[in-house]
Amino acid sequence: MIKITKTNDGSYTLYSSHHDELYHSKHGARTESEYVFIKNGLKKCHHYKEISILELGFGTGLNSLLTYLESKHQTILYTSIEAYPLPNTTHNQYLETLPKKEQNSYQSIIKAPWDKHHDISTNFTLHKQKSLFQTMKLTTTYDLVYADAFSPRKQPECWTTDIYKKIYNHMNPNAILITYCSQGLFKRMLSKLGLTVQTLPGPPGKREMTLATKR
Ligand SMILES: C[S@@+](CC[C@H](N)C(=O)[O-])C[C@H]1O[C@@H](n2cnc3c(N)ncnc32)[C@H](O)[C@@H]1O
Repeated sequence: MIKITKTNDGSYTLYSSHHDELYHSKHGARTESEYVFIKNGLKKCHHYKEISILELGFGTGLNSLLTYLESKHQTILYTSIEAYPLPNTTHNQYLETLPKKEQNSYQSIIKAPWDKHHDISTNFTLHKQKSLFQTMKLTTTYDLVYADAFSPRKQPECWTTDIYKKIYNHMNPNAILITYCSQGLFKRMLSKLGLTVQTLPGPPGKREMTLATKR
């Protein structure tokens, strides 16, 4: 069962009873996404005129929306992997919680077909890929990776060497991987794969998060 839930900054997230996990932080869904993925991810890539982004976990589509809203000066190809797309009724409920001026953009994002490249605007192409992380086929290379699976405590199978080796092999030189996750085991695995790992201060309610660069 999926339940819509208000978080501490007034924005909403979803609770999955199957995974016993929230899709975002209870301390602030939007604050977390903006801080982790936009401020510490996308904004560190402002020098790219064209940028290819990979997201693990489309979920509500909030990261896609926030990236789209930031995309005015860049051409973005945004690939998002998701094994369990939410039903339209849930997306529609989530849409109602968003600021009015963002609702049309959100609607375009959630209505985009799966497993096809779809232009949301002249400079933002979305490729929602319905697949497990474990078996996903990566068809291009990426400058920025948003690792946004449920936590390794709840879903260790989504944070394995096999998955991240595949991602590493599809990261361009100087690409960065950004995640809210700060687990030691995960960071050591990224280092072993050859990434330069940095620990950053986390979003509200979380001491640390991780940024990894392919040198
Ligand atoms: C933390 S949520 C993603 C939140 C999302 N980025 C957003 O902005 O709402 C994790 C997502 O991973 C998906 N997921 C869980 N296990 C998966 C797997 N093995 N392969 C692919 N997707 C998976 C869940 O359905 C969920 O949508």
